Amino acid sequence: MKILVAGGAGYIGSCTTEYLLEKGHEVAVFDALLNGHRAAVDSRAKFYYGNLADTAELNRVMKDFSPEGVIHFAAFIEVGESMKDPGKYFANNVGNAINLAEAAARAHVRKLVFSSTAAVYGMPDVVPIQETMPKEPINPYGRSKLMFEQVLDWYERIYGMQYTALRYFNAAGATRIHGEDHHPETHLIPLVIQAAMGVRPSISIFGTDYKTMDGTCIRDYVHVLDLAQAHLLALEKDGSAAFNLGSGKGYSVRQVIDTVRKVSGKEFAVKEEAPRPGDPAELIADSTMAKTRLGWKPQYDCLETIVRSAWEWRQEHPNGYGDKS
Ligand SMILES: NC(=O)c1ccc[n+]([C@@H]2O[C@H](COP(=O)([O-])OP(=O)(O)OC[C@H]3O[C@@H](n4cnc5c(N)ncnc54)[C@H](O)[C@@H]3O)[C@@H](O)[C@H]2O)c1
Repeated sequence: MKILVAGGAGYIGSCTTEYLLEKGHEVAVFDALLNGHRAAVDSRAKFYYGNLADTAELNRVMKDFSPEGVIHFAAFIEVGESMKDPGKYFANNVGNAINLAEAAARAHVRKLVFSSTAAVYGMPDVVPIQETMPKEPINPYGRSKLMFEQVLDWYERIYGMQYTALRYFNAAGATRIHGEDHHPETHLIPLVIQAAMGVRPSISIFGTDYKTMDGTCIRDYVHVLDLAQAHLLALEKDGSAAFNLGSGKGYSVRQVIDTVRKVSGKEFAVKEEAPRPGDPAELIADSTMAKTRLGWKPQYDCLETIVRSAWEWRQEHPNGYGDKS
């Protein structure tokens, strides 16, 4: 299949591009390198340097590459920044994303797969979270993702372009070639790894008094290659839907720290700090729908496996892709 990957120079996009290429698909990456890295674009993929804001360029790429499927990773991803600069998030994650949907619909793309997020659920009352539960985002980032899911629903009704919204929980881990190199880094596993490598002086735990087994927040980590598998299944299946993607297992912040200690064999300082507003105690996915309807079979759903892959990638790439500080 010919697949256009918007945001393929970023973390999950680069790993998914590698996975698709290894499965024999023809892949083109579209990315403005706002946050991704040129070196993260798989050398076997065609690369279009372009911004989703540029509708003429998007139309040119659709004509030149004629994709059958589009995967849309290209968005801004920092919850905290979205609370300070909501316009930046709505403009890119909704406005520019509409440019992509529009260009894809006009080019008769059969299916668009969209990176959505657990943040669409806000502060859920019940875990594990099912797709049908209330969607009440508590920040512009989560709202922008939910809005674009709703936009896609209308593109299906009006133009017949199918979509799958994949609501990832915490993406983590690395492939052999590609890994996580965000600037700034806000995700727990790479931050703890940086502490273990001495790149940062300590790791902070925000809140130690939650009603969880050890008082720290619990999250659901899903390996980036398992995410990649779900994107391909979504492209291959007919129909439109939204699916949660998580391992269904919750790990506390302390368990993540202990796992990095075990995998790395390194000691590092841990600071206990006040809880952050809007951080729910527990976020765990119910991914039954993705398994039964997409046929998704996660292969790396054990925290130690995830952490080990991230650690090994960092050992081989101590400065990440080396182009951003
Ligand atoms: N990382 C996670 O744990 C996580 C969890 C849930 C959802 N998601 C979603 O998954 C997607 C990928 O996340 P990631 O961690 O790989 O992010 P990332 O920042 O590493 O990658 C995003 C890529 O999109 C590109 N991009 C952004 N806006 C663009 C534009 N207007 N035009 C062209 N390129 C543009 C960036 O340059 C970057 O390469 C995002 O949509 C994010 O919201 C991520």
